[in-house]
Amino acid sequence: MAFAWTLALETGHPMIDAQHKELIKAVNDLLAACIQGNAADKVNSTVDFLLSYTKKHFGEEEQLQQQTNYPDIAHHKVLHAEFVKYVADLSAKLKEQGPSPILINNIIRGVGEWLVNHIQKEDVKVAAHAKKTSGG
Ligand SMILES: [Fe+2]
Repeated sequence: MAFAWTLALETGHPMIDAQHKELIKAVNDLLAACIQGNAADKVNSTVDFLLSYTKKHFGEEEQLQQQTNYPDIAHHKVLHAEFVKYVADLSAKLKEQGPSPILINNIIRGVGEWLVNHIQKEDVKVAAHAKKTSGG
């Protein structure tokens, strides 16, 4: 099943939400390719996108945390770094082993579930703090 964009995933911060939508879309597009039998063609570009876009997104999110003196920034940065490593490990495995169905499934489930969980547990707090700090 695709990862549905629901209100529970909206942090209320336009930049963060727009970037999260891109990430969820990449996972869903890979899932759609799987269903159509084209996952092997799509998986390399998806993982490359995830590698570069997570770095951009995390960088901008951390900048926002810094600008607003988010109290939990150190912990949040650790979570981001762990996920960057997780995606890098998936990318290495993909290069070594090729696009096995198990690996493709791990990419879709692992990345999708991490994002949904991280957004709801952590990023909503970042956005709420940013809103409070900016006075609106
Ligand atoms: Fe985050």
